[in-house]
Amino acid sequence: MTYMKTELLFTPAASAQTELLAVFAADTSVNKDKDAKPEITLLTSDEAVRKAANFVLASGEFKAEANETLLLHAPEGLAATRLLIVGLGNAAKADPHAIRRAAGTAVRFAKPRGIRSLAILVPEGNFDPAQSTRAIAEGAILADFDSDTYRTDRKDRSVEFLSIQVPSGVDKSPAAAGHREGVVIAESQNFARTLINEPGNRMTPTILGQRAAEMAAENGLKCEVWSTDKLRELKMGAFLAVAQGSDEPPALIVIQYEPETVKPDTPVMGLVGKGITFDTGGISIKPADNMEKMKYDMAGGAAMIGAMRAIAQLKPAVKVVAIVCAAENMPSGKAVKPGDIVFARSGKSIEVLNTDAEGRMVLADGLHYARELGATRLINAATLTGAVAIALGQINAGVFANDEDAYRHFTKALEISGEKFWRLPVEDEYREQIRSSIADIQNTGLTRYGGATNAAMFLKEFVGDTPWLHLDIAGLAWQDAEKPWLAKGPTGIALRSIVEWVRSYA
Ligand code: BES
Ligand code: ZN
Ligand code: ZN
Repeated sequence: MTYMKTELLFTPAASAQTELLAVFAADTSVNKDKDAKPEITLLTSDEAVRKAANFVLASGEFKAEANETLLLHAPEGLAATRLLIVGLGNAAKADPHAIRRAAGTAVRFAKPRGIRSLAILVPEGNFDPAQSTRAIAEGAILADFDSDTYRTDRKDRSVEFLSIQVPSGVDKSPAAAGHREGVVIAESQNFARTLINEPGNRMTPTILGQRAAEMAAENGLKCEVWSTDKLRELKMGAFLAVAQGSDEPPALIVIQYEPETVKPDTPVMGLVGKGITFDTGGISIKPADNMEKMKYDMAGGAAMIGAMRAIAQLKPAVKVVAIVCAAENMPSGKAVKPGDIVFARSGKSIEVLNTDAEGRMVLADGLHYARELGATRLINAATLTGAVAIALGQINAGVFANDEDAYRHFTKALEISGEKFWRLPVEDEYREQIRSSIADIQNTGLTRYGGATNAAMFLKEFVGDTPWLHLDIAGLAWQDAEKPWLAKGPTGIALRSIVEWVRSYA
Protein backbone atom coordinates (compact mmCIF):
# COMPACT_ATOMS: atom_id res chain seq x y z
CA MET A 1 0.00 0.00 0.00
CA THR A 2 1.24 3.50 -0.74
CA TYR A 3 0.59 6.36 1.57
CA MET A 4 0.86 10.09 1.13
CA LYS A 5 4.48 11.28 1.37
CA THR A 6 5.00 13.93 4.00
CA GLU A 7 8.05 16.03 4.67
CA LEU A 8 9.00 18.72 7.15
CA LEU A 9 10.21 21.92 5.50
CA PHE A 10 11.98 24.67 7.39
CA THR A 11 11.84 27.20 4.55
CA PRO A 12 9.64 30.35 4.56
CA ALA A 13 5.97 29.69 3.81
CA ALA A 14 5.86 32.47 1.24
CA SER A 15 8.32 30.59 -0.93
CA ALA A 16 6.47 27.25 -0.75
CA GLN A 17 5.84 26.23 -4.35
CA THR A 18 2.67 24.28 -3.91
CA GLU A 19 -0.78 23.96 -5.40
CA LEU A 20 -2.27 24.84 -2.05
CA LEU A 21 -0.87 26.36 1.11
CA ALA A 22 -3.08 25.86 4.18
CA VAL A 23 -2.82 28.17 7.17
CA PHE A 24 -4.78 27.93 10.41
CA ALA A 25 -6.77 30.72 12.03
CA ALA A 26 -8.44 30.88 15.44
CA ASP A 27 -11.03 33.06 17.09
CA THR A 28 -9.07 34.82 19.82
CA SER A 29 -11.97 36.80 21.29
CA VAL A 30 -12.42 36.09 24.98
CA ASN A 31 -15.62 35.72 26.91
CA LYS A 32 -17.67 38.27 25.01
CA ASP A 33 -21.41 37.91 24.58
CA LYS A 34 -22.36 35.66 21.74
CA ASP A 35 -23.41 38.44 19.38
CA ALA A 36 -19.96 39.99 19.61
CA LYS A 37 -17.79 39.75 16.54
CA PRO A 38 -15.16 37.02 16.48
CA GLU A 39 -11.57 38.18 16.54
CA ILE A 40 -9.80 36.31 13.78
CA THR A 41 -6.13 35.62 14.30
CA LEU A 42 -4.05 34.00 11.62
CA LEU A 43 -1.69 31.61 13.40
CA THR A 44 1.43 32.63 11.57
CA SER A 45 3.92 35.44 11.85
CA ASP A 46 4.85 35.11 8.18
CA GLU A 47 4.32 38.63 6.86
CA ALA A 48 3.66 37.59 3.28
CA VAL A 49 0.94 35.11 4.31
CA ARG A 50 -0.65 37.63 6.66
CA LYS A 51 -0.66 40.24 3.96
CA ALA A 52 -2.21 37.90 1.41
CA ALA A 53 -5.03 37.01 3.80
CA ASN A 54 -5.54 40.46 5.25
CA PHE A 55 -8.16 41.81 2.88
CA VAL A 56 -10.50 38.84 2.96
CA LEU A 57 -10.21 38.42 6.73
CA ALA A 58 -11.15 42.08 7.20
CA SER A 59 -14.42 41.39 5.35
CA GLY A 60 -15.65 39.44 8.37
CA GLU A 61 -17.13 36.64 6.27
CA PHE A 62 -14.74 34.08 7.73
CA LYS A 63 -15.45 33.30 11.39
CA ALA A 64 -12.61 30.81 12.04
CA GLU A 65 -15.09 28.23 13.27
CA ALA A 66 -13.63 24.76 13.61
CA ASN A 67 -13.00 23.29 10.13
CA GLU A 68 -14.45 26.30 8.35
CA THR A 69 -12.50 26.96 5.14
CA LEU A 70 -11.84 29.96 2.93
CA LEU A 71 -9.99 29.69 -0.37
CA LEU A 72 -7.99 32.38 -2.15
CA HIS A 73 -6.66 31.85 -5.66
CA ALA A 74 -3.40 33.39 -6.83
CA PRO A 75 -2.55 34.94 -3.46
CA GLU A 76 -0.36 37.96 -3.91
CA GLY A 77 3.22 37.67 -2.73
CA LEU A 78 3.13 33.88 -2.28
CA ALA A 79 4.68 31.18 -4.43
CA ALA A 80 1.66 28.97 -3.74
CA THR A 81 -1.12 28.98 -6.33
CA ARG A 82 -3.83 28.87 -3.66
CA LEU A 83 -4.09 29.90 -0.03
CA LEU A 84 -6.57 28.00 2.14
CA ILE A 85 -7.46 29.38 5.54
CA VAL A 86 -8.78 26.71 7.92
CA GLY A 87 -10.51 27.56 11.20
CA LEU A 88 -9.51 25.99 14.50
CA GLY A 89 -12.45 27.47 16.41
CA ASN A 90 -12.03 29.40 19.61
CA ALA A 91 -8.36 29.75 20.50
CA ALA A 92 -8.97 28.37 24.00
CA LYS A 93 -10.10 25.07 22.46
CA ALA A 94 -7.49 24.94 19.72
CA ASP A 95 -5.57 21.89 20.95
CA PRO A 96 -3.67 19.23 18.96
CA HIS A 97 -6.97 17.44 18.33
CA ALA A 98 -8.42 20.53 16.68
CA ILE A 99 -5.23 20.78 14.61
CA ARG A 100 -5.51 17.11 13.58
CA ARG A 101 -9.05 17.67 12.34
CA ALA A 102 -8.21 20.98 10.63
CA ALA A 103 -5.27 19.40 8.80
CA GLY A 104 -7.64 16.64 7.70
CA THR A 105 -10.13 19.25 6.52
CA ALA A 106 -7.43 20.82 4.32
CA VAL A 107 -6.66 17.44 2.74
CA ARG A 108 -10.32 16.61 2.15
CA PHE A 109 -10.78 20.08 0.68
CA ALA A 110 -7.95 19.36 -1.76
CA LYS A 111 -8.94 15.82 -2.82
CA PRO A 112 -12.10 16.45 -4.90
CA ARG A 113 -10.48 19.50 -6.50
CA GLY A 114 -7.76 17.38 -8.06
CA ILE A 115 -5.03 18.87 -5.93
CA ARG A 116 -2.30 16.26 -5.47
CA SER A 117 0.18 18.14 -3.40
CA LEU A 118 -0.19 20.68 -0.64
CA ALA A 119 1.58 22.42 2.20
CA ILE A 120 0.30 23.03 5.71
CA LEU A 121 1.78 25.68 7.92
CA VAL A 122 2.55 24.63 11.52
CA PRO A 123 0.57 27.07 13.70
CA GLU A 124 2.35 29.62 15.89
CA GLY A 125 1.14 30.57 19.34
CA ASN A 126 0.84 28.39 22.42
CA PHE A 127 1.38 25.17 20.53
CA ASP A 128 3.92 22.49 21.23
CA PRO A 129 5.75 21.97 17.91
CA ALA A 130 6.11 18.19 18.33
CA GLN A 131 2.40 17.87 19.07
CA SER A 132 1.56 20.09 16.11
CA THR A 133 3.70 18.28 13.55
CA ARG A 134 2.31 14.99 14.81
CA ALA A 135 -1.27 16.24 14.64
CA ILE A 136 -0.83 17.60 11.12
CA ALA A 137 0.77 14.40 9.78
CA GLU A 138 -1.86 12.25 11.48
CA GLY A 139 -4.81 14.34 10.41
CA ALA A 140 -3.62 14.63 6.81
CA ILE A 141 -2.89 10.92 6.32
CA LEU A 142 -6.13 9.83 8.00
CA ALA A 143 -8.08 12.27 5.83
CA ASP A 144 -6.58 10.87 2.65
CA PHE A 145 -8.33 7.51 3.15
CA ASP A 146 -11.51 6.83 1.15
CA SER A 147 -13.56 3.66 1.23
CA ASP A 148 -14.93 3.46 -2.35
CA THR A 149 -12.22 1.04 -3.44
CA TYR A 150 -14.38 -1.23 -5.62
CA ARG A 151 -15.86 1.39 -7.95
CA THR A 152 -14.53 0.38 -11.36
CA ASP A 153 -14.75 4.01 -12.50
CA ARG A 154 -13.05 5.16 -9.34
CA LYS A 155 -10.69 8.06 -9.72
CA ASP A 156 -7.95 7.83 -7.21
CA ARG A 157 -7.94 11.27 -5.68
CA SER A 158 -5.26 10.58 -3.12
CA VAL A 159 -2.98 13.41 -2.18
CA GLU A 160 0.54 12.41 -3.11
CA PHE A 161 2.62 14.90 -1.23
CA LEU A 162 2.33 17.10 1.84
CA SER A 163 4.96 19.48 3.07
CA ILE A 164 4.63 20.54 6.68
CA GLN A 165 6.03 24.05 6.83
CA VAL A 166 7.76 24.67 10.14
CA PRO A 167 8.15 28.33 11.17
CA SER A 168 11.60 29.66 11.95
CA GLY A 169 12.71 29.39 15.56
CA VAL A 170 11.24 25.91 16.06
CA ASP A 171 13.67 23.15 17.10
CA LYS A 172 14.15 20.58 14.40
CA SER A 173 14.43 17.44 16.44
CA PRO A 174 11.15 17.51 18.44
CA ALA A 175 9.29 18.63 15.32
CA ALA A 176 10.80 15.71 13.39
CA ALA A 177 10.01 13.23 16.17
CA GLY A 178 6.39 14.37 16.30
CA HIS A 179 6.13 14.14 12.54
CA ARG A 180 7.46 10.59 12.47
CA GLU A 181 5.06 9.43 15.22
CA GLY A 182 2.14 10.94 13.36
CA VAL A 183 3.10 9.20 10.12
CA VAL A 184 3.55 5.81 11.79
CA ILE A 185 0.31 5.97 13.70
CA ALA A 186 -1.88 7.30 10.91
CA GLU A 187 -0.49 4.85 8.34
CA SER A 188 -1.16 2.02 10.79
CA GLN A 189 -4.68 3.28 11.38
CA ASN A 190 -5.30 3.47 7.61
CA PHE A 191 -3.93 -0.07 7.29
CA ALA A 192 -6.50 -1.21 9.88
CA ARG A 193 -9.25 0.74 8.08
CA THR A 194 -8.36 -0.99 4.82
CA LEU A 195 -8.78 -4.39 6.47
CA ILE A 196 -12.11 -3.36 8.03
CA ASN A 197 -13.40 -2.00 4.74
CA GLU A 198 -13.09 -5.33 2.95
CA PRO A 199 -16.35 -7.27 2.54
CA GLY A 200 -16.79 -10.72 4.05
CA ASN A 201 -16.05 -12.57 0.80
CA ARG A 202 -12.72 -10.80 0.48
CA MET A 203 -11.75 -10.81 4.14
CA THR A 204 -12.15 -14.30 5.53
CA PRO A 205 -10.39 -15.40 8.73
CA THR A 206 -7.70 -17.01 6.56
CA ILE A 207 -7.14 -13.82 4.59
CA LEU A 208 -7.02 -11.75 7.77
CA GLY A 209 -4.35 -14.14 9.02
CA GLN A 210 -2.38 -13.71 5.79
CA ARG A 211 -2.59 -9.92 5.97
CA ALA A 212 -1.41 -10.00 9.59
CA ALA A 213 1.48 -12.30 8.70
CA GLU A 214 2.55 -10.05 5.80
CA MET A 215 2.45 -7.00 8.03
CA ALA A 216 4.46 -8.84 10.71
CA ALA A 217 7.11 -9.96 8.20
CA GLU A 218 7.46 -6.40 6.87
CA ASN A 219 7.90 -5.03 10.37
CA GLY A 220 10.11 -7.64 12.02
CA LEU A 221 7.39 -9.09 14.25
CA LYS A 222 6.91 -12.73 15.12
CA CYS A 223 3.56 -14.02 13.85
CA GLU A 224 1.81 -17.37 13.97
CA VAL A 225 -1.56 -18.15 12.42
CA TRP A 226 -3.32 -21.27 13.68
CA SER A 227 -6.56 -22.90 12.63
CA THR A 228 -9.04 -25.62 13.60
CA ASP A 229 -6.57 -28.37 14.55
CA LYS A 230 -4.64 -26.11 16.88
CA LEU A 231 -7.87 -24.75 18.43
CA ARG A 232 -8.91 -28.34 19.16
CA GLU A 233 -5.50 -29.10 20.62
CA LEU A 234 -5.78 -25.99 22.80
CA LYS A 235 -9.35 -26.98 23.77
CA MET A 236 -10.68 -23.58 22.77
CA GLY A 237 -14.28 -24.80 22.87
CA ALA A 238 -15.85 -21.34 22.98
CA PHE A 239 -13.94 -20.05 19.94
CA LEU A 240 -14.55 -23.34 18.08
CA ALA A 241 -18.29 -23.20 18.77
CA VAL A 242 -18.52 -19.91 16.90
CA ALA A 243 -16.38 -21.12 13.99
CA GLN A 244 -18.03 -24.51 13.49
CA GLY A 245 -21.01 -23.27 11.48
CA SER A 246 -18.89 -21.84 8.68
CA ASP A 247 -17.09 -23.47 5.75
CA GLU A 248 -14.36 -20.91 6.33
CA PRO A 249 -11.81 -22.17 8.86
CA PRO A 250 -11.08 -19.90 11.84
CA ALA A 251 -7.75 -18.19 12.40
CA LEU A 252 -6.01 -17.68 15.72
CA ILE A 253 -3.53 -14.93 14.99
CA VAL A 254 -0.68 -14.44 17.46
CA ILE A 255 1.73 -11.54 16.91
CA GLN A 256 4.63 -10.86 19.23
CA TYR A 257 6.82 -7.82 19.74
CA GLU A 258 10.05 -8.04 21.75
CA PRO A 259 11.94 -4.83 22.49
CA GLU A 260 15.74 -4.80 22.51
CA THR A 261 15.85 -3.97 26.20
CA VAL A 262 13.22 -4.01 28.92
CA LYS A 263 13.54 -2.74 32.46
CA PRO A 264 12.89 -5.40 35.09
CA ASP A 265 9.29 -5.52 36.34
CA THR A 266 7.94 -4.02 33.12
CA PRO A 267 4.56 -5.62 32.47
CA VAL A 268 3.82 -7.71 29.38
CA MET A 269 1.00 -6.18 27.39
CA GLY A 270 -1.69 -8.48 25.99
CA LEU A 271 -3.83 -7.14 23.12
CA VAL A 272 -6.86 -9.22 22.20
CA GLY A 273 -9.13 -8.45 19.26
CA LYS A 274 -12.50 -9.72 18.07
CA GLY A 275 -12.04 -10.78 14.47
CA ILE A 276 -15.46 -11.89 13.27
CA THR A 277 -15.06 -11.39 9.53
CA PHE A 278 -18.81 -11.63 9.09
CA ASP A 279 -21.51 -11.89 11.74
CA THR A 280 -24.81 -13.27 10.44
CA GLY A 281 -25.82 -14.01 14.02
CA GLY A 282 -25.61 -17.75 13.34
CA ILE A 283 -28.73 -19.80 14.12
CA SER A 284 -30.00 -16.81 16.15
CA ILE A 285 -29.87 -15.07 12.78
CA LYS A 286 -29.91 -11.30 12.44
CA PRO A 287 -32.59 -9.45 10.47
CA ALA A 288 -31.68 -8.70 6.82
CA ASP A 289 -31.75 -4.93 7.31
CA ASN A 290 -28.21 -3.61 7.75
CA MET A 291 -26.73 -7.09 7.98
CA GLU A 292 -24.12 -6.06 5.40
CA LYS A 293 -22.63 -3.85 8.10
CA MET A 294 -21.48 -6.95 9.92
CA LYS A 295 -18.41 -7.13 7.69
CA TYR A 296 -16.88 -4.68 10.14
CA ASP A 297 -17.26 -7.08 13.06
CA MET A 298 -13.50 -7.63 12.87
CA ALA A 299 -12.72 -3.96 13.59
CA GLY A 300 -11.35 -4.78 17.06
CA GLY A 301 -9.03 -7.39 15.60
CA ALA A 302 -7.92 -5.02 12.83
CA ALA A 303 -7.19 -2.35 15.46
CA MET A 304 -4.87 -4.80 17.22
CA ILE A 305 -3.07 -5.78 14.00
CA GLY A 306 -2.65 -2.12 13.10
CA ALA A 307 -1.52 -1.29 16.63
CA MET A 308 1.19 -3.95 16.35
CA ARG A 309 2.42 -2.33 13.14
CA ALA A 310 2.74 1.02 14.94
CA ILE A 311 4.38 -0.62 17.96
CA ALA A 312 6.93 -2.40 15.75
CA GLN A 313 7.93 0.94 14.25
CA LEU A 314 7.83 3.08 17.41
CA LYS A 315 9.70 0.42 19.42
CA PRO A 316 8.55 1.04 23.00
CA ALA A 317 10.59 -0.77 25.69
CA VAL A 318 7.79 -3.15 26.61
CA LYS A 319 6.89 -6.65 25.47
CA VAL A 320 3.59 -6.99 23.61
CA VAL A 321 1.59 -10.00 22.49
CA ALA A 322 -1.47 -9.57 20.29
CA ILE A 323 -4.11 -12.21 19.74
CA VAL A 324 -6.84 -11.93 17.15
CA CYS A 325 -9.62 -14.49 17.21
CA ALA A 326 -10.94 -14.60 13.65
CA ALA A 327 -13.98 -16.59 12.58
CA GLU A 328 -17.10 -16.27 10.47
CA ASN A 329 -20.39 -16.58 12.39
CA MET A 330 -22.74 -18.58 10.14
CA PRO A 331 -25.87 -20.71 10.43
CA SER A 332 -25.57 -24.21 8.99
CA GLY A 333 -26.18 -27.86 9.78
CA LYS A 334 -22.96 -27.81 11.75
CA ALA A 335 -23.58 -24.54 13.58
CA VAL A 336 -23.77 -24.19 17.34
CA LYS A 337 -27.39 -24.02 18.55
CA PRO A 338 -29.13 -22.10 21.32
CA GLY A 339 -28.93 -24.22 24.44
CA ASP A 340 -25.68 -25.94 23.47
CA ILE A 341 -23.08 -26.28 26.18
CA VAL A 342 -19.41 -25.76 25.39
CA PHE A 343 -16.23 -25.64 27.45
CA ALA A 344 -13.85 -22.71 27.16
CA ARG A 345 -10.10 -23.33 27.33
CA SER A 346 -10.13 -22.05 30.91
CA GLY A 347 -12.38 -25.00 31.80
CA LYS A 348 -15.54 -22.94 32.34
CA SER A 349 -18.76 -24.32 30.92
CA ILE A 350 -20.85 -21.96 28.83
CA GLU A 351 -24.51 -22.25 27.88
CA VAL A 352 -24.95 -20.65 24.45
CA LEU A 353 -28.32 -18.93 24.74
CA ASN A 354 -27.89 -16.75 21.69
CA THR A 355 -25.48 -17.60 18.89
CA ASP A 356 -25.35 -13.91 17.97
CA ALA A 357 -23.46 -13.20 21.19
CA GLU A 358 -20.40 -14.73 19.53
CA GLY A 359 -17.81 -12.03 20.13
CA ARG A 360 -17.58 -12.72 23.85
CA MET A 361 -17.17 -16.44 23.08
CA VAL A 362 -14.10 -16.02 20.88
CA LEU A 363 -12.66 -13.40 23.23
CA ALA A 364 -13.10 -15.70 26.22
CA ASP A 365 -10.52 -18.07 24.78
CA GLY A 366 -8.36 -15.25 23.40
CA LEU A 367 -8.12 -13.46 26.75
CA HIS A 368 -7.32 -16.66 28.60
CA TYR A 369 -4.66 -17.57 26.05
CA ALA A 370 -3.05 -14.12 26.27
CA ARG A 371 -2.50 -14.69 29.98
CA GLU A 372 -1.01 -18.10 29.27
CA LEU A 373 1.40 -16.46 26.85
CA GLY A 374 2.57 -14.23 29.67
CA ALA A 375 0.44 -11.09 29.44
CA THR A 376 0.23 -9.26 32.77
CA ARG A 377 -1.90 -6.38 31.45
CA LEU A 378 -4.81 -7.00 29.13
CA ILE A 379 -6.75 -4.85 26.71
CA ASN A 380 -9.34 -6.09 24.28
CA ALA A 381 -11.22 -4.29 21.53
CA ALA A 382 -14.44 -5.55 20.05
CA THR A 383 -17.57 -4.50 18.20
CA LEU A 384 -19.28 -6.41 20.96
CA THR A 385 -22.78 -5.08 21.58
CA GLY A 386 -25.50 -2.99 20.00
CA ALA A 387 -26.30 -1.99 23.58
CA VAL A 388 -23.16 0.13 23.92
CA ALA A 389 -24.33 2.24 20.98
CA ILE A 390 -27.78 2.57 22.59
CA ALA A 391 -26.11 3.81 25.78
CA LEU A 392 -23.43 6.10 24.37
CA GLY A 393 -24.49 6.88 20.80
CA GLN A 394 -21.86 7.31 18.16
CA ILE A 395 -19.75 9.87 20.00
CA ASN A 396 -18.13 7.86 22.80
CA ALA A 397 -17.04 4.24 22.69
CA GLY A 398 -17.35 2.19 25.88
CA VAL A 399 -14.49 1.30 28.19
CA PHE A 400 -14.72 -1.16 31.07
CA ALA A 401 -11.93 -1.71 33.58
CA ASN A 402 -11.30 -4.04 36.51
CA ASP A 403 -8.27 -2.06 37.67
CA GLU A 404 -7.89 1.63 38.51
CA ASP A 405 -4.22 1.91 37.61
CA ALA A 406 -4.71 0.38 34.17
CA TYR A 407 -7.65 2.72 33.66
CA ARG A 408 -5.53 5.74 34.67
CA HIS A 409 -2.97 4.75 32.08
CA PHE A 410 -5.81 4.62 29.58
CA THR A 411 -7.14 8.09 30.41
CA LYS A 412 -3.62 9.44 29.84
CA ALA A 413 -3.55 7.62 26.51
CA LEU A 414 -6.85 9.27 25.56
CA GLU A 415 -5.39 12.72 26.13
CA ILE A 416 -2.80 11.95 23.47
CA SER A 417 -5.02 10.02 21.06
CA GLY A 418 -7.98 12.40 21.18
CA GLU A 419 -10.36 9.44 20.99
CA LYS A 420 -13.48 9.51 23.11
CA PHE A 421 -14.28 6.64 25.47
CA TRP A 422 -16.77 6.66 28.34
CA ARG A 423 -16.42 4.33 31.30
CA LEU A 424 -19.22 1.88 32.04
CA PRO A 425 -19.44 -0.50 35.01
CA VAL A 426 -18.27 -4.11 35.37
CA GLU A 427 -19.16 -4.77 38.99
CA ASP A 428 -19.93 -8.05 40.71
CA GLU A 429 -23.56 -7.05 41.38
CA TYR A 430 -24.19 -7.67 37.68
CA ARG A 431 -22.83 -11.19 37.75
CA GLU A 432 -26.18 -12.86 38.37
CA GLN A 433 -27.16 -11.71 34.87
CA ILE A 434 -24.86 -14.30 33.31
CA ARG A 435 -25.39 -17.15 35.80
CA SER A 436 -26.69 -20.19 33.95
CA SER A 437 -29.09 -22.74 35.38
CA ILE A 438 -27.23 -25.61 33.72
CA ALA A 439 -23.63 -24.42 33.24
CA ASP A 440 -21.17 -22.01 34.88
CA ILE A 441 -22.24 -19.05 32.77
CA GLN A 442 -24.53 -18.19 29.88
CA ASN A 443 -23.56 -16.01 26.96
CA THR A 444 -26.39 -13.47 27.27
CA GLY A 445 -27.89 -11.59 30.21
CA LEU A 446 -31.09 -12.67 31.96
CA THR A 447 -32.64 -9.38 30.92
CA ARG A 448 -31.82 -7.09 28.03
CA TYR A 449 -31.03 -4.23 30.39
CA GLY A 450 -27.39 -3.27 30.67
CA GLY A 451 -26.44 -5.38 27.65
CA ALA A 452 -22.98 -3.84 27.27
CA THR A 453 -22.15 -4.54 30.90
CA ASN A 454 -23.51 -8.09 30.69
CA ALA A 455 -21.09 -8.77 27.84
CA ALA A 456 -18.25 -7.21 29.84
CA MET A 457 -19.16 -9.43 32.83
CA PHE A 458 -18.85 -12.46 30.60
CA LEU A 459 -15.36 -11.42 29.46
CA LYS A 460 -14.35 -10.69 33.04
CA GLU A 461 -14.80 -14.40 33.82
CA PHE A 462 -11.71 -15.08 31.72
CA VAL A 463 -9.22 -12.46 32.88
CA GLY A 464 -8.77 -13.64 36.48
CA ASP A 465 -7.00 -10.97 38.52
CA THR A 466 -5.02 -9.57 35.59
CA PRO A 467 -5.56 -5.81 35.17
CA TRP A 468 -7.82 -5.56 32.14
CA LEU A 469 -9.58 -3.05 29.91
CA HIS A 470 -12.41 -3.91 27.57
CA LEU A 471 -13.17 -1.50 24.72
CA ASP A 472 -16.62 -1.91 23.16
CA ILE A 473 -16.34 -0.07 19.85
CA ALA A 474 -19.56 -1.27 18.18
CA GLY A 475 -20.95 2.28 17.86
CA LEU A 476 -17.78 3.95 16.60
CA ALA A 477 -16.05 1.46 14.29
CA TRP A 478 -18.05 2.55 11.24
CA GLN A 479 -19.06 6.09 10.38
CA ASP A 480 -22.17 6.41 8.19
CA ALA A 481 -21.64 10.04 7.21
CA GLU A 482 -18.49 11.79 6.19
CA LYS A 483 -16.95 14.52 8.34
CA PRO A 484 -15.04 17.48 6.92
CA TRP A 485 -11.82 15.78 8.08
CA LEU A 486 -12.69 12.09 7.65
CA ALA A 487 -14.34 9.87 5.05
CA LYS A 488 -17.35 7.77 5.87
CA GLY A 489 -16.72 4.09 6.48
CA PRO A 490 -14.25 2.35 8.79
CA THR A 491 -12.73 4.67 11.40
CA GLY A 492 -9.95 2.58 12.91
CA ILE A 493 -11.13 3.70 16.35
CA ALA A 494 -9.20 2.46 19.40
CA LEU A 495 -5.89 1.90 17.61
CA ARG A 496 -4.33 5.20 18.66
CA SER A 497 -5.43 4.83 22.28
CA ILE A 498 -4.19 1.24 22.46
CA VAL A 499 -0.78 2.25 21.10
CA GLU A 500 -0.47 5.10 23.62
CA TRP A 501 -1.65 2.84 26.43
CA VAL A 502 1.08 0.34 25.56
CA ARG A 503 3.71 3.08 25.31
CA SER A 504 2.71 4.45 28.71
CA TYR A 505 4.15 1.29 30.32
CA ALA A 506 7.52 1.48 28.57
N1 BES B 1 -21.46 -7.82 16.30
C1 BES B 1 -22.59 -7.66 17.14
C2 BES B 1 -22.65 -6.30 17.82
C3 BES B 1 -22.78 -5.11 16.92
C4 BES B 1 -24.03 -4.51 16.75
C5 BES B 1 -21.69 -4.54 16.31
C6 BES B 1 -24.15 -3.39 15.95
C7 BES B 1 -21.82 -3.43 15.52
C8 BES B 1 -23.05 -2.85 15.35
C9 BES B 1 -22.58 -8.71 18.24
O1 BES B 1 -21.99 -9.92 17.91
C10 BES B 1 -24.00 -9.01 18.59
O2 BES B 1 -24.71 -9.46 17.72
N2 BES B 1 -24.40 -8.71 19.82
C11 BES B 1 -25.72 -8.92 20.25
C12 BES B 1 -25.69 -9.53 21.62
C13 BES B 1 -27.02 -10.04 22.10
C14 BES B 1 -27.43 -11.23 21.29
C15 BES B 1 -26.90 -10.38 23.56
C16 BES B 1 -26.44 -7.59 20.27
O3 BES B 1 -25.80 -6.57 20.60
O4 BES B 1 -27.60 -7.53 19.92
ZN1 ZN C 1 -23.33 -11.27 16.92
ZN1 ZN D 1 -20.50 -9.81 16.40
